[in-house]
Amino acid sequence: MHILILNGPNLNLLGRREPGIYGTRSFDDYLPELRAAFPDFTLEYFQSNHEGELLDKIHEVGFTYYGIVFNAGAYTHTSIALADALAAINTPVVEVHLSNVAAREEFRHKSLIGRHCIGSISGFKLDSYRLALHYFEGLKPKRVGFKR
Ligand code: DQA
Repeated sequence: MHILILNGPNLNLLGRREPGIYGTRSFDDYLPELRAAFPDFTLEYFQSNHEGELLDKIHEVGFTYYGIVFNAGAYTHTSIALADALAAINTPVVEVHLSNVAAREEFRHKSLIGRHCIGSISGFKLDSYRLALHYFEGLKPKRVGFKR
């Protein structure tokens, strides 16, 4: 069962970028831990700072993968194209954010992608990704098909 963890712009700088908000650990450092915690899933990881590359990746996996855990970074608040891509696919998507976007600037309160996701997990730093994967794990016994 393949799950894509998809990170958008500036998330390659995790660990160095505003550590008070995003934490001190890089995603590469965290990923092996996540893989060990979910041995039933094949966790693929892709990060890009480019909207088109994120779109291509969503198109590539969005009809075959079991799930997508998506932190779209700032594109969360701006990208109609990414929202349209999530509307087009049938793999379920969980939106994640490291920071609690509801407690930050007003422009971060609006997610354009949220309506095309199963739900959103925000504010638990890197643990947001683990919580999202627990959703997919809980789905396994019940799962009969994709979202439509
Ligand atoms: C973020 C929140 C976004 O508002 C911001 O632009 C990011 C990271 C988060 O994980 O908290 O780049 O998605």
